[in-house]
Order: sequence, then C-alpha cells, then structure tokens
Amino acid sequence: MSFSTLKGMKDIYFKEIKKYDFIVNKAKETFSNYGFEKIITPILEETELFKRAVGDETDVVSKEMYTFIDKGDRSVTMRPEGTAGTLRAYLGAGLHKSNPNIKWFYYGPMFRYEAPQKGRYREFHQLGVESYGIRSSLYDAEIIAMAVKFLEKLNILDVRVEINSIANVETRIRYIKDLKEYLINNFENLSEDSKIRTHKNTLRVLDSKSEQDQKILENAPRLHDYFDEESKKYFEELKYYLDKLSIKYEVNEKLVRGLDYYCDTVFEIKTDKLGAQSTLIAGGRYDKLIKQLSGVDIPAIGFGAGIERIAMLLDDNLVDEKNKTVYIVYFEDTKDYLLEIVKKLREEGIKLEYEYQIKGFGAQMKRANKLNIDNVLILGENEKANNKVSLKNFVDSTQEEITLEEAIERIKNV
Ligand code: HAM
Repeated sequence: MSFSTLKGMKDIYFKEIKKYDFIVNKAKETFSNYGFEKIITPILEETELFKRAVGDETDVVSKEMYTFIDKGDRSVTMRPEGTAGTLRAYLGAGLHKSNPNIKWFYYGPMFRYEAPQKGRYREFHQLGVESYGIRSSLYDAEIIAMAVKFLEKLNILDVRVEINSIANVETRIRYIKDLKEYLINNFENLSEDSKIRTHKNTLRVLDSKSEQDQKILENAPRLHDYFDEESKKYFEELKYYLDKLSIKYEVNEKLVRGLDYYCDTVFEIKTDKLGAQSTLIAGGRYDKLIKQLSGVDIPAIGFGAGIERIAMLLDDNLVDEKNKTVYIVYFEDTKDYLLEIVKKLREEGIKLEYEYQIKGFGAQMKRANKLNIDNVLILGENEKANNKVSLKNFVDSTQEEITLEEAIERIKNV
C-alpha cells in the first residue's frame, strides 16, 4: 500500500525548503525593520470568524473553505488566510482597548479548496503583515514600499505594482447600486460567472477575465467617478507619497480584490513569469472591519504574499551554499582517536560525516565524493601517533598533516 499527498498539497524539502527558509528570513529582516513583530495563531478557527471577517459571499468563504464539524459538534475551518485569525487574536487580547497600535507579521500554511494549477494549491504558504491603528496615505505608501523592498532583497525586481482605491463603504454602496443596474441591463451577454456575481458579489465582475465581460464593462459606470472629496484626496496623496518613495506603480481601476473587508487603498504586486497565477503579494486597507467585529473604530492595513509563487521566481544560486561538511576517514585501529576528534569538532560547531559501519579506505573516499564534500580528514596510524590529522582538500587537491586546531581554522575559513 502506498500513500501520496492529497491533491493540491505537497511536501517541501531539499532545495525547496531552503528557498522557503530564505524567503521567510528576508521577510523577517525586512518587516522587523519597519517595526513588525511575529505572531503565531492557530490553523483551525471557528468557521463563523471567516464568514464574518472575510465575507459570506466571497469565493474563499462560499466555495473554498476546508470546514468540518469537530468532536464537540462545532463548525471549524482550516484558515484560508491570515487576516481574520490575526484580528481575532488582537481583539481577544483586548488590544483594541488597551494598546491599539500593533504591527504583526506571520507565516504558515493556509488552505483553500481550489482547482490546483501552477502557482495555485489547496495547501499553500503565506507570509503576511497586519498593522492596526494607523490611517494615513503616507503609511499605505510605506507598506507598499516595504513589500517591494522585501522582493528586492530576494532579487525579484521585475514586478508590477498595481494600486487602486475602492473608496469608503458608503461610496461603494452607491456605486455598486448603479453598476448592478448597468450589468442587469446587459445581463444576457455576460459570462455565466459574471451573471452569478452580478447578484452575489457585484464588484468582482470588474476583474472578470472574460473578454466579452470586459467589452461590456468598457461603458460601465466608473467607481472613481463616485469618489467623495476624502477618498479622492486620500488616493491622490497615496500616489504622491509612492512617487516620493520612488515606487513605480500603475493605477488599475479594475483591481477590487476578492475579500470583502477592504476600503480605500488596495494593491497587488504581480509578475509576468508565472502565467495565470501572477499575483505575488496582495493587500490593502480594511478600516471598518475592527468596528464591525468589536464596535471600536480602529483602522488597519496589511498584505499577504504567496511563498510558493515567490519561490518559483527565486534564483537557485541564492540558496546554493558551499557544502561545509567535513568527511572523516578512519580505520579499525583509529576508532578511539576518531571519537576524540569528533567530540572536538562537534564542540566547534563543525558539520561532519563518518561511517558508522567501518569500511575500507576506497569506499570511504568514494562516499565523500558522492556527498560532494570538499574537506576530508584522514585519521590513520601515523596521524594518531603524531596527534595530528591529515586534511585533504578536493578543490585544490592538497593534502597536509597538521594539528586539529589548524585543520579547524582552515575548515572554518572555507
Ligand atoms: P489573497 O489575495 O487571498 O489575500 O492572498 C494573498 C496571496 O496569497 C496571493 O497574492 C497569492 O500570492 C497567495 N495565494 C492565495 N491563494 C493561493 C493558492 N491557492 N495557492 C498559492 N498561493 C496562493 C489574502 O489572503 C489577504 N489576507 C491579504 C491581506 C492581509 N490583506 C490584508 N491583510
């Protein structure tokens, strides 16, 4: 009997795990520079949390959640994203009352029951930030700049930053009413998906991939024409600060995001290198969500980044390190000497390999070769008698009998 991973899920090891760690480390480095601290929240949460925070009618909640009834007869869900759980932690700790200005970052697995394809999985890994308590277009620009800087640190430079404003709730309600009316007047020609969305999640029709829909949308009302003075000013300021921070961006009026909680600033950072799943980082402002869940009016902004998608763009060279492991060749008569040397090398933090079943010299050298190891320590009768070691270096083909201290020095300085 053999088992495999579930559809849309995969194991991560060897080079892929190095990339994962590399990405997470660069994220930690970048985000902590901007004052973010790490938070870990549970993978499993009450289903109601996602319904209330992300929105009942969104694709994520209505179609894609891994939801089940636990042994206590409660409906629970494997988190499809990180914003809701992080906010639950914030509210649960009463921080909205005692200490509202919090900046958190997180990373870990998320689950969405989607049709798997390149860059889209059912279990994927996201890293994200959530910041509570600040409403300022300058801050939004800084958050976008931080996301760009994070990608720069990974040497991912060829990206497109798309921004938009989806205004405040009141403006959006006025707009959606008119958009819906327009779509209903053109209902017959809409794609099947957009027909459903017209009634369930009207704004999402705007980012339909269907050419036919896009044609109809050419004459649809524009959200930007509905902006009140405040929304207009906020968006103009955002663009001004992005210019000041030297962030290149494009305004995409059709960018509306798939989750309900956003208002004003929304953004996505995209690549042309991954086909259909082109968004690496996505986020925006969600000023009304905390009020909606707690009654306390606290603004918030954040973003999420897909680790798998970013890993696909990482240059292999970035994570290819030199193999610093030392291979030790020894013989039956020098086994005690081996153990002495191993103890000292481990104390020095040197990675090492040797055979636990004694083998001949040739077999040991062959294995060192197979492990792609540069430095081999040979512990023969002579070395033991002289209290020395022979260090053989495969890169410059040298071999020298030296003290263990000298050998350690050389190995560390490779
Ligand atoms: P999202 O757009 O749903 O936003 O996801 C953010 C990113 O996660 C995407 O841009 C993509 O890189 C990655 N991603 C999403 N679904 C998948 C999948 N099935 N397979 C692989 N990667 C995927 C959110 O989740 C929001 N919580 C972001 C946010 C945080 N907004 C404010 N704060």
